[in-house]
Amino acid sequence: MAFRSLQEFINYLERHGELHKITTEVSTDLEITEITNRVTKTHGKALLFTNVKDSRFPVITNTFGSFKRIMMAFGQSPDEIAQRIETLTKMQLPDGIANKIRFIPKLIELAKTPPRVVQRAPCQEVVSTEPDLSTIPVLKCWPGDGGRFITLPMVITKSLKDGTRNMGMYRIQVYDKNTTGMHWHIHKDGRNHFSEYVKAGKRMEAAIAIGGDPATIYSSTAPLPPGIEEFLFAGFLRNKALEIVRCKTVDIEVPAEAEFVIEGYLDPQERRAEGPFGDHTGFYSPIDDYPVFHVTCITHRSDAVYPATVVGPPPMEDYYLAKMTERIFLPLIKIIVPEIVDMNMPAEGVFHNCAIVSIKKSYPMHAQKVMHALWGMGQMMNTKMIIVMDEDVDVQDMSTAAWKAFNNVDPQRDLIITSGPLDALDHSSPYALHGSKLGIDATRKIEGETERSWPDEIKMSEDIINRVNAKWNDYGIT
Ligand SMILES: Cc1cc2nc3c(=O)[nH]c(=O)nc-3n(C[C@H](O)[C@H](O)[C@H](O)COP(=O)(O)O)c2cc1C
Repeated sequence: MAFRSLQEFINYLERHGELHKITTEVSTDLEITEITNRVTKTHGKALLFTNVKDSRFPVITNTFGSFKRIMMAFGQSPDEIAQRIETLTKMQLPDGIANKIRFIPKLIELAKTPPRVVQRAPCQEVVSTEPDLSTIPVLKCWPGDGGRFITLPMVITKSLKDGTRNMGMYRIQVYDKNTTGMHWHIHKDGRNHFSEYVKAGKRMEAAIAIGGDPATIYSSTAPLPPGIEEFLFAGFLRNKALEIVRCKTVDIEVPAEAEFVIEGYLDPQERRAEGPFGDHTGFYSPIDDYPVFHVTCITHRSDAVYPATVVGPPPMEDYYLAKMTERIFLPLIKIIVPEIVDMNMPAEGVFHNCAIVSIKKSYPMHAQKVMHALWGMGQMMNTKMIIVMDEDVDVQDMSTAAWKAFNNVDPQRDLIITSGPLDALDHSSPYALHGSKLGIDATRKIEGETERSWPDEIKMSEDIINRVNAKWNDYGIT
């Protein structure tokens, strides 16, 4: 089912026993984080805080913090969505890698769910042109944070060149009642839009939507190629067009069903220290200069609920959003690298630091070819470590994957150390934004890669397995 709004999803969670309401007074200052962290670590329920100190708005956290809830949010499993994309990819794929890459946006368009502009919207029930961000219960998450951060924002911008819209999730530090930071990393589409305005010396309008239906919230985190609008993708995921509305003070459209919308602009020259922030790596990202967002208007539902996520030492809620990405984008990756069978980005790798892939290997150094292909693909360019396995390895089973990696690898032959861009949050490299990468070929080695014969893996014969299965109860083992 396609949820219309965050509140419709919250009601659904409550009806299905997936929501815990906390009526005791709580503070946005660290206390909500500590509660949420404990519950997330046990894959517990979504948390609705209805009595938030100094705020008339409730706060919801851990909304998507389990596989069960992320499936509820989409009304289908990630694999079902992947299947829908795979079906599209099988329709009429052109020949040649370049043509295939150009075809990917068309696949999404095939879904025919472009956003629909509406004139009246719940997110504009209350309009305040004398904005005061302190009315929103924004969390201070960790003791070393440089302030309060909006952690689940959908930042909407427009390209100066062709008006294409982008919606990306970039954390927002609240500086005072009408200014914030804008933490879009150098590799991201929102930041690319901003660069266009910086080049032209023009002020850039933008809007920050908070809350929306689950597919829309997720879409702002999805690593879509530039030019594919997240609004369209959200419609594809929901199987239903997303309703959008024009902002009151800027020429930007936002999801009509958002809980809050913060409208404003960025001055092309202005920068301000942003951070530190306890990040999803489990470490603080340091202070750095980022653009400044000036708020012109805040609109919201009259009964708005403020959604926040708490990131920190994994696993946290964002792991489940990242798993959606891993599943949904696998068929698209397979268009370009069809020998890939499966991929696992474990929670501990915080998405960009580790990808374990299985491949149908058919020639010497095939694993190395796959590593380079992945490093050349969209946000996969930031992946620090890629480990390649044979197709018969279940890469979702970390014990098996570790066994193969520890036993199949001759470091001198099977490790590649190369250089390239790294996620802006990486703290391990001696340089910001780039550094070294590791590729590990954990496949069994074939002729051309080793002069020795490769040993068979130990496996019990089928007839014995069947015999023991049949007699299992007779052995009396409990
Ligand atoms: C909870 C959460 C917070 C995020 N915070 C940031 C951030 O502060 N800056 C950033 O560049 N990316 C951040 N990301 C990742 C981006 O949302 C993601 O890379 C997305 O694809 C960016 O959209 P874009 O490709 O349209 O730029 C965050 C993701 C999640 C799930």
